[in-house]
Amino acid sequence: MNSGLHPFLQKQINQSQRSNSVRSEFRSLWLDESIAERYGGELPEQKNILQNSAARGLPPNQVGPFEGHLMMMLLRMINAQVGVEFGTLGGYSTSWIARALQGASRNGRAPCVHTLELKPHFAEVARENLQPWAELLQVHVGPALEIANGALASLQDLDFVFIDADKANYPNYFDWAWARLRKGGVVLIDNFYLWGGIYAAQGEYPREYSDSLSARDHFSATQFAGMKKLWDKLEGLGESAHKTILPTSEGLGCVYKL
Ligand code: DHB
Ligand code: MG
Repeated sequence: MNSGLHPFLQKQINQSQRSNSVRSEFRSLWLDESIAERYGGELPEQKNILQNSAARGLPPNQVGPFEGHLMMMLLRMINAQVGVEFGTLGGYSTSWIARALQGASRNGRAPCVHTLELKPHFAEVARENLQPWAELLQVHVGPALEIANGALASLQDLDFVFIDADKANYPNYFDWAWARLRKGGVVLIDNFYLWGGIYAAQGEYPREYSDSLSARDHFSATQFAGMKKLWDKLEGLGESAHKTILPTSEGLGCVYKL
């Protein structure tokens, strides 16, 4: 029967067994990169961060330009001024955050992102990379929970927290963040799909989609336990939050405090 629909769309509809909506199922990494290229926004200074980080031996685990741009826009939308990043690496995501804070003003506070990095070498490279935004940030070196509960314990009224560090501690970082976040603030969570593993590890990921898992063997049991605990925690937030996952290639958890 000729429905008049484009054959591709008709195929999608025929294959759509779990809901009556038409959804694509491909991984979006290519799309992320394509959108980033077409819509732009990445500064030469930010391209330099990626180059210098690679040259200095850092692993390429930073968010992509699409996610960075998205984060910058989200933070602008809530007029973010002060927040914390768990996991600096070379400071690429930090640069997007810093750009969002530039010129922000609320309650007369000085814009600042506190970024936490375990490894001294990564932090040193990040400081080099983040020179253009140096006045907007503080890089803290050491175990993140110790710093958060020590030097940063008295922070309050935070506009945002970005969690992108060791996965096993994600629920602890979230608890710390939620206790200090202002109403109307956001917690953003990278790798919330755990590279696809969050469902695969529970045996819930449909076999026909398993080819698209990027890294099934890329995560450990403790990483999985941390992520799963945070997934459950968000479910339990009830009326105190809006939460969703922005379907970037890694899944960007997004929690808005009501
Ligand atoms: C890894 C960590 C990340 O935060 C990420 O976005 C990608 C990879 C990793 O530890 O392998
Ligand atoms: Mg990450």
